[in-house]
Amino acid sequence: MKSKKAPPGLAMRQQAAERLAGVLRGANFAPFSLSEIPDGRDRATANRLVTTALRRHGHLDLALARYLERGMPKRSGPFEAHLRLALAQLLYLPELGAHSALFLAVEALRGDNRTQHLAKLANAVLRRAQADAEDLRALPLPALFPERLRAAWQSAYGEAALGGMAEALLQGAPLDLTLPGGDPTLIAALGAGPVLFDTVRILERDRSVEALPGYAEGRWWVQDAAAALPARLLGLEAPATVLDLCAAPGGKSAQLAAAGHRVTALDSDPERMARLTGNLDRLGLAAIPVVADALAFTPTESYDGIVLDAPCSATGTFRRHPEVVWHRDAAAIASRVAVQRGLIERSVSWLKSGGVLIYCVCSLEPAEGEEQAKWLAEHTGLAPDPIGKSELPGLETAVTAAGYVRTLPGMPAPGPHGGTLDGFFIARFRRR
Ligand SMILES: C[S@@+](CC[C@H](N)C(=O)[O-])C[C@H]1O[C@@H](n2cnc3c(N)ncnc32)[C@H](O)[C@@H]1O
Repeated sequence: MKSKKAPPGLAMRQQAAERLAGVLRGANFAPFSLSEIPDGRDRATANRLVTTALRRHGHLDLALARYLERGMPKRSGPFEAHLRLALAQLLYLPELGAHSALFLAVEALRGDNRTQHLAKLANAVLRRAQADAEDLRALPLPALFPERLRAAWQSAYGEAALGGMAEALLQGAPLDLTLPGGDPTLIAALGAGPVLFDTVRILERDRSVEALPGYAEGRWWVQDAAAALPARLLGLEAPATVLDLCAAPGGKSAQLAAAGHRVTALDSDPERMARLTGNLDRLGLAAIPVVADALAFTPTESYDGIVLDAPCSATGTFRRHPEVVWHRDAAAIASRVAVQRGLIERSVSWLKSGGVLIYCVCSLEPAEGEEQAKWLAEHTGLAPDPIGKSELPGLETAVTAAGYVRTLPGMPAPGPHGGTLDGFFIARFRRR
């Protein structure tokens, strides 16, 4: 008997659905690697399908609610993921073909005994969505975010900023590098443009990060333009003793070491610390590595400067990690706020008199940013050291009246390449 050959694209579709199903269960999205999908075109398509489904998650929720009158069937394996991928392709990636969106989803569901009874339902949903495509593509942009975040961000940043954030979610993030010293030949070879200070931006690339010029020689590291601001704003003359608390994977430690400081890099996660050490080795930079829980650590010296890049909800990174907006609920944010306060309380006593503390988070939640800075000023005895607009040329709009830095994902980055920034909050304090 002749065995039936699987249609082209089906295996990749199944991998993409499994990856998306994992994210729907709470995992972080990781793009497919060369070893997972060796064919470059298939890999690019699979990554595009999953990221489009994640960026459009809010709109796909509305479409699914419209067509699944009885809700998502329970215990249906990868059914939801296949449906989301097919809808993403049908509505937002028309160049990949509407026919294949339907065909591959239905084939994949038919071939899996967890979902074969749902193949007809999927077919009906997708046909109805195809008929309503114009209407679905016109859903309002803020509906890309969950209701709770939409309301909170609108009240904190206003309607125009919320619209810009939704556009930034769809656009994704460019590749920013920190390249100390600014070598025009290398910047040109990278096809990069300047952003601010040591940050250069690559809008389009045709190869992996490791294959870009200067990587092997340790000339630069990947770091979003906004993530490069806190270490810069420490503003201490080198060489100073600096503790980078919550340091891994080490972007800020690398900046501080490259600026000539004597850096202690502390993180509680041994695997992430191994990445930090590997990154610093590649860059030819040195820091004293410490694997420890900062809430239980006691240093043997005091510091001229401390950078506290606290663990947070990371909602400001949604251009690269669109799933963060769906994974973080109010309870998760409240528990982070408590850890951040613990870290602040411990670290302030490790500063020398006159020493500088930078508190920062890649979060858009005022509870983790502005409100923490206010709490810090009221409860620790440190004096606020307001950041001046002149310290961020081209990014003055990010400096608030209180002297904090608040970047938002829709905020235009300085420099000729355009594009936006990660959301970050940065505050500076000084020990009296
Ligand atoms: C936002 S990331 C740091 C990014 C890093 N500063 C950089 O620029 O590359 C937060 C880090 O805090 C670490 N962390 C969380 N809780 C910690 C604790 N109690 N003590 C030390 N590190 C902690 C996590 O392992 C994570 O690496």
